Amino acid sequence: MIELKNVSKSFGSNSVLKSLNLKVCKGENITIIGQSGSGKSVLIKHIIGLLKPDAGEIFIDGIEITTLKEKKLFKLIEKFGMVFQGGALFDSLTVGENIAFGIREKKDKHEINGIVNESLDNVGLPGISDLMPSELSGGMKKRVSIARAIAKKPKIIMYDEPTTGLDPIMADVINELVIKVGEMPGITSIIITHDMVSAYKVSKRIAVLYDGKIIETGLPEDIKNTKNEIVRQFIEGRSEGPIKLR
Ligand SMILES: Nc1ncnc2c1ncn2[C@@H]1O[C@H](COP(=O)(O)OP(=O)(O)O)[C@@H](O)[C@H]1O
Ligand SMILES: [Mg+2]
Repeated sequence: MIELKNVSKSFGSNSVLKSLNLKVCKGENITIIGQSGSGKSVLIKHIIGLLKPDAGEIFIDGIEITTLKEKKLFKLIEKFGMVFQGGALFDSLTVGENIAFGIREKKDKHEINGIVNESLDNVGLPGISDLMPSELSGGMKKRVSIARAIAKKPKIIMYDEPTTGLDPIMADVINELVIKVGEMPGITSIIITHDMVSAYKVSKRIAVLYDGKIIETGLPEDIKNTKNEIVRQFIEGRSEGPIKLR
């Protein structure tokens, strides 16, 4: 469903992705882990077409997107639900208006309200449609952001560090939600995180991003038992080891 082939991206002299390869199958639930600054957000932005690679190809449902014209690209990325780091809600819109934002086309008010309420129920926040984002806690904002993503009934949902900045209990509420959304029929989930508790809990498969490449992929159990010293250092959270610190 999603394939990145030899994708490279630099910003000036900063080489972030270095001929990266990754395949994500339909219906899969995959987590990409990596240090802060390793290029996780840059990678996601390539998949939704917000960034173009310097070299390489990106296929979504068999369509190569790096050469697509804007209009066709927009149409394709409509299929994506995106949960941005920090939530990225519009502060001047209510919760309900935020959720309705991506689904306004071709629907009447009644139908939109129904979808908004159903999405809020799904994330365990019924009846908060009229609140403003400023009235919400960090965890509620993340959940509203997930509600906005699932309201679009996306085929692909991507989360950028969904548990970062949350207390462990709220992080687990989000983990459970990521699992629940991942079980919706036909949906493919890509989660980006440096939270190993979350990665082990929500993923069917884990891919490790390091030095611009995916250096290992496997089941959570495989990653836990890896012999790769770089991966070991990261998952064990040690300052000593082969990883160069900047
Ligand atoms: N638009 C941009 N312009 C220049 N540098 C960028 C841009 N976006 C990201 N970077 C750089 O790319 C690297 C990876 O960033 P990012 O993908 O945000 O890391 P993370 O893994 O923490 O999400 C960082 O060194 C960052 O400074
Ligand atoms: Mg990031």
